[in-house]
Parts: sequence; structure tokens; C-alpha cells
Amino acid sequence: MRTTVLIVAAGSGSRLQAGVPKALVTLSDGHTMLEHCLDSVVAARDAGAIDLHAIAVVVPGDPDTATSLETVCHAFAARTAVTVQTVPGGAERADSVRAGLAAVRTLAGSAGSAGGPFGRHALLVHDAARPFVPPAVFGAVVTALESGTAAVVPAVEVVDTIKTVAGAGPEEVTGTLQRTQLRAVQTPQGFDLTSLEAAHRLAEEGAGGAAALTDDAMAMEAAGHRVSVVTGDPLGFKITTQLDLMLANALLASGTSTNLEHH
Ligand code: CTP
Ligand code: MG
Repeated sequence: MRTTVLIVAAGSGSRLQAGVPKALVTLSDGHTMLEHCLDSVVAARDAGAIDLHAIAVVVPGDPDTATSLETVCHAFAARTAVTVQTVPGGAERADSVRAGLAAVRTLAGSAGSAGGPFGRHALLVHDAARPFVPPAVFGAVVTALESGTAAVVPAVEVVDTIKTVAGAGPEEVTGTLQRTQLRAVQTPQGFDLTSLEAAHRLAEEGAGGAAALTDDAMAMEAAGHRVSVVTGDPLGFKITTQLDLMLANALLASGTSTNLEHH
């Protein structure tokens, strides 16, 4: 199935506190997080896991950061011959995805993809902050889309006990969720493009605002779609804090960032 990948890289990285937007942060091998993320997409293509049509990258509105990330994208496009389009993002992640969807529609429509612009076209929405997703995860997501599902998420089991709390000031536990029923959801999340566009339009009109949508599957759930789950991978972790960055650099140093899935 022809697949376009939408990488959201427009966040500021406030929790990482690296002094530059997160996608521009350089890992210990000298490559930025965005480069690693782009490389993982092309690795999935080269492994035969996805039939890659194009990549859209949503970048921050700030001109300096945008230029730096565009330079990364242009170098990647020149090296791999993959079509890469950049587009400015918005204040919340969901705003950035919505901005990216318009670019993806143009890319997909011009593709001569099966059925033309209104045929089924796979869209993978992916965080730039997840640099090490193995090809098998991309493959599992697209395989689920090919079987006819409109939404699919890769997920891993939760190791902590998750409790709900309430109260201003000191919090109190209000309940404990049954861990066997919980999953931590990663990206890339896969969608039928037309269905996700409609779901995001619906979510935009609804209450809660863009900040309430912490992933794209939520928009599909709210629109009444079934969301399939496939097996994620520990290497699909998101770099959010300095501790995550240390883990990423340790993986690169030990050479396990690309083959942990075989362990
Ligand atoms: N993202 C985006 N546009 C936003 C916010 C987030 O494109 N307005 C992207 C980030 O670039 C990242 C992904 O969404 O690749 C996941 O978001 P998160 O890990 O929260 O990144 P940041 O928002 O940059 O980090 P923080 O929340 O710590 O500021
Ligand atoms: Mg954020």
C-alpha cells in the first residue's frame, strides 16, 4: 500500500531543556534526532516493510529553526531520492498534524496512488522524537492497514502500576487501573488518510481543543472508528527528558539502537 509518512517535528522540547528544539538536538554520533527519525523511515523502506511514497515534515514556525530542519530534510532527500516536503506547524501537536495533513493530501493526490486522490492511501503519523523505531514496527502498522482497518497503533505493555488521582494541593488516589488492560502507545500510528482528515476536522469542532488530543488515534476513537493494536518495540521510546537522551546515546554507543529487536 502506497504510504506517506508525516513526521511531526514542530515541538519546542520544553521538558528536555536542550536549548534548541528537540528535533535539532544532536545525539552522540553527531546526527540530529530528525536525521535518525528520517533514516529509520528509509530503513523500513529498504527492508521492504513499507512502500514509501513521500515524507512530510512539520517544522517550527520560527525561521531559524525551520531553516536548520529544512537543511536536514534537503540533505536527506538528496541522499535517498525520497520526496520530502516541509510545512510549518502549530502551537499544539494536533495543530501540527493538521497543518501536515494538508501537505500530505497534496503529496498523495499527485502520486498516481492506487485510486487517485480519493483511493485508500496509507498515512503514518510519526514523532520526530522517536529516533530508533525498527522496520518491523513500520511493517506491522502498514500490514494492519492493508487488512482494511482505518486506524492502528503500536503499543507496549506498561511496567508501572497506574493510579488515578484527584485533589488540588495534596493528591489522593481515587483508583487503580488494571495493568493487564493498559498499553503505552507509540508512533508511527497508521491511518487511512481520508478517514484521519475527517476525524481531525470533527475533533477541531468538538470541545477540548487541540491540547486535549495527545495522539491521533484519539481523534479516530472520537469519530467512532475501531483502532487496531499491533506490537510496538522498546526501541520506539520517545525522547522526552534528559534521562531518555542518555538512554539514546548509550544505545548508540553500544551499537544496540538498530538491533535490539533481535534480542
Ligand atoms: N510536536 C509538534 N508540534 C507541537 C508539539 C509537538 O510537531 N506543537 C511534535 C514534537 O516535535 C515531537 C512530537 O510532537 O516530535 C511529540 O511531542 P513531545 O514529545 O511532547 O515534544 P515537544 O512538544 O517538543 O516536547 P515538550 O512537550 O517537552 O515541550
Ligand atoms: Mg509536547
